[in-house]
Amino acid sequence: MNMTIGIASLCGAQSVPCLIPQPDQIAVQDGHFQVTDKTVITASGEARFQADLLIESLAPAMGARLKLLEQASNDTDIISLVLEHSLSESLGEEGYRLDVSSQSIRIQARKPTGLFYGIQTLRQLLPPAILSLQPVEQIQWTVPCVSIVDAPRFGWRGLMLDPARHFIPVPDVKRYIDIMALHKYNRLHFHLTDEPGWRIEIKKYPDLTRVGSRMDWTELQSDTPSPDQAHCVGFYTQDEIRDLVRYAAQRHILIVPEIEMPAHSTAAIVSYPQLSLNAKELSSLSPEQRWKAKERLLAARPQTISFLQDVLLEVLELFPSPWIHIGGDEAEIIHWKNSPEMQDNIQQLGLKDETELHGWFMRQMDSFVTQHGRRTIGWDEILQGGLAPGATVMSWRGQEGGITAAQAGHDVIMAPTSHTYFDYYQGPPQSEPKAIGGDLPLEKVLQFELVPSVLNAEQARHILGGQGQLWGEFISDTRHLQYMTWPRAAALAEILWSSKPDRNPESFRSRLTGHLKRLDAAQVYYRPL
Ligand code: ACM
Repeated sequence: MNMTIGIASLCGAQSVPCLIPQPDQIAVQDGHFQVTDKTVITASGEARFQADLLIESLAPAMGARLKLLEQASNDTDIISLVLEHSLSESLGEEGYRLDVSSQSIRIQARKPTGLFYGIQTLRQLLPPAILSLQPVEQIQWTVPCVSIVDAPRFGWRGLMLDPARHFIPVPDVKRYIDIMALHKYNRLHFHLTDEPGWRIEIKKYPDLTRVGSRMDWTELQSDTPSPDQAHCVGFYTQDEIRDLVRYAAQRHILIVPEIEMPAHSTAAIVSYPQLSLNAKELSSLSPEQRWKAKERLLAARPQTISFLQDVLLEVLELFPSPWIHIGGDEAEIIHWKNSPEMQDNIQQLGLKDETELHGWFMRQMDSFVTQHGRRTIGWDEILQGGLAPGATVMSWRGQEGGITAAQAGHDVIMAPTSHTYFDYYQGPPQSEPKAIGGDLPLEKVLQFELVPSVLNAEQARHILGGQGQLWGEFISDTRHLQYMTWPRAAALAEILWSSKPDRNPESFRSRLTGHLKRLDAAQVYYRPL
């Protein structure tokens, strides 16, 4: 851990690019390796697929596809990718060793994911122009001689996208995934349903998208910055979802779907009014009129549970993720309090009140998901009203929910508004594009510590990691999405990957200056420093 050389001081030097996230151990030597179109990649077995990804990632800027061989005839001018199961277990599934000499580059890992992350580091060791989408002329693709040993601190390193508010087309999601991978993110939490739109095709209930993905919510939200209805309309077909899941998986990113319930459900209610508390009344209205009624909360009745379980069955088919997110936040259960039918249900089920009814609702969904061999995640409101035994808590209203959950033996993902809501302002509101509110400058992200000191070692093991939230109410196109994401998500990537003792905001800032050149080359928009 302490071969670490002061990379901050090296960052300005021409030959040593700035790495984000900061690797665990790095030793820099004199000299460099030069990648040319004659350089050969060697890999065998499972490593070959990672080698293909390396070749693909170098090709646009180099204007050449490097040759892949099982074995090279000599051992100079090669980049070898080696799966080596005897490497230290401390590298885990995602760790790697990267050794660069003037003769060759060698990336070793116990698993393909580790090779992939070694490749991401190699891309950052090359000149920033390697991220360019077009051939770059007259450049020497040099890599400084280094030895790196690296593995992540947390296993859950996520960003959350919200195509429910403003639809995000498939190519934009793929590009987003590409840049996540460069920063060694491994979870994309996909918030697929909410008030303004239902964004995933469900074969059994076609109106969810036929009606629920086509609502012009701009007129309902007077201060929205986007009068462009096109962004309010759209959904992912099941084939597109499969394609996205595969695309992300190839880049070692797991897509974790979220189907919101029992609140944030206007799109579902407009599509199928029988899901609402006022089923009869709403059914007699046109979709447009239902939409204007702004019902957000589902009725807690057995038919709603069956409907959502049918939906989840298709979701489970599409997403291999071991976790399925079932929402649970911000339910205005006062509407259940005022409903004689819901009060009756509370009595029949032997429950105390609406809070317990909320707990019952979420547990029904949890046991269905669990029976199908997966686990649920919910926002921290699922702690109220009786938490299902295996549920994972996503702590957003601060870290308190996460603390309570970890102390009770539940897994936790830290996603507090204070440090991870990237829909918040990142500078003075008068000089920023309109955001939802809040104040989350880059410096504050860098101060984020996921493991509160009140947790003992056993409890701390339940903190799986954390993620940044890009809620989409005010983010209406991909450029704006990138602006809100970067560079804050680069800071979060460092918090999630790099070991705690090595963390150093000053070093981060100096590395970031160099790193932004990569985002420039990749044509990724970001908030200037
Ligand atoms: C949330 O921001 N309502 C999870």
